[in-house]
Amino acid sequence: MSILVTGGAGYIGSHTLVRLLEQGESVVVLDSYDNSSPEALRRVMQLTGRQLEAIEGDACDEALLRRVMHEYAVESVIHFAGHKAVGESVQKPLKYYKNNLESTISLMRAMREEGVKRLIFSSSATVYHCEEPSPHTEDQRLGCINPYGWTKFMNEQIIRDCCQADGELSCVLLRYFNPVGAHPSGLIGEDPNGIPNNLMPYICQTAVGLRDHLTIFGDDYKTHDGTGVRDYLHVCDLAEGHVCALGYARAHKGCEAINLGTGTGYSVLDVVHAFEKANGIKINYVIGPRRPGDLDENYADPSKAERLLGWKAQKTLEDMCRDGWNWQKKNPKGYRGE
Ligand code: NAD
Ligand code: UFG
Repeated sequence: MSILVTGGAGYIGSHTLVRLLEQGESVVVLDSYDNSSPEALRRVMQLTGRQLEAIEGDACDEALLRRVMHEYAVESVIHFAGHKAVGESVQKPLKYYKNNLESTISLMRAMREEGVKRLIFSSSATVYHCEEPSPHTEDQRLGCINPYGWTKFMNEQIIRDCCQADGELSCVLLRYFNPVGAHPSGLIGEDPNGIPNNLMPYICQTAVGLRDHLTIFGDDYKTHDGTGVRDYLHVCDLAEGHVCALGYARAHKGCEAINLGTGTGYSVLDVVHAFEKANGIKINYVIGPRRPGDLDENYADPSKAERLLGWKAQKTLEDMCRDGWNWQKKNPKGYRGE
């Protein structure tokens, strides 16, 4: 029996593969390499000394999904595949609705036909309504402000409805807060295409000299130093959360939405200073205008994850900064250096 990991060559997928292989699981990856490289999978195998099966293909292709589920005796699915750039989703909404919804619908249909009963889905903290206060609890009102967010919202609903219709299904909707950092080996990490949208890769690229300076988007938020506050989570803690969610899904039926965050918010300036301290590097920055759509603060109440999954984030902001930088300096051009 094996676990199907869609989007497994991506940032979070590759780190999760390491933990799955370390646990002795058999894994088959389906990835289009639309936003990743097969080199990440080669490095996962190097890191763990274990083999995995890799198939290049589209998670929207139901016939392919059925074939893979059948051939590899798939018992559970972890569904990372999807587009994730918030800004692009505003420019190209149909690209996002098509890929992110069609892949989930194809997957649920293939699972039904092949009798696969467990699914772990990559949702996001972005599903919480912007008027709901932090710390976010899973029962808060949902609502989104961009097409990317709506795809997560709709996918959650689709999966919930499938669980209503089939009492044998076990699905966990993991609402990630802000994943950052990299595996401490420096072999795998985040490899954004072009100019990074997110804070930590931007800081790392500034530190390595690819960018001249970081622009901090606003210093007049209602936070302790005026810059935006987020719940940064080490990607290895996040990977462990998937192993725990899989264990939970194996033991329980039904559908649960669960936050994965640390519960602690740090500001942009906190992160810049932590990065400087952890790595002994000065980060050039300027204060710029606010980025449209950004909130003052966004952090999790992670108590449900602890209660249901027995999961709690272990790593510190210093670990995130050190490991993110270790990956960046060893791979200044990401996987493309290969
Ligand atoms: P990523 O882009 O690094 O990984 C996604 C992977 O899916 C890539 O390897 C890409 O090639 C693949 N893919 C995309 N569409 C596909 C398709 N139709 N068929 C097959 N493969 C396809 O992104 P990530 O940061 O690892 O995120 C993984 C998941 O977690 C995504 O669903 C994302 O929306 C969600 N998420 C990410 C964050 C974050 O900050 N990174 C936060 C919340 C949720
Ligand atoms: N920031 C800067 N400068 C930058 C990049 C970011 O100041 O160059 C600031 C942002 O304004 C924000 C903080 O750094 O205050 C974090 O920004 P990120 O873009 O790293 O993360 P977000 O919280 O904005 O977005 C993340 C995910 C999205 C998800 C969203 C909501 O990247 O996919 O959380 O959960 F939709």
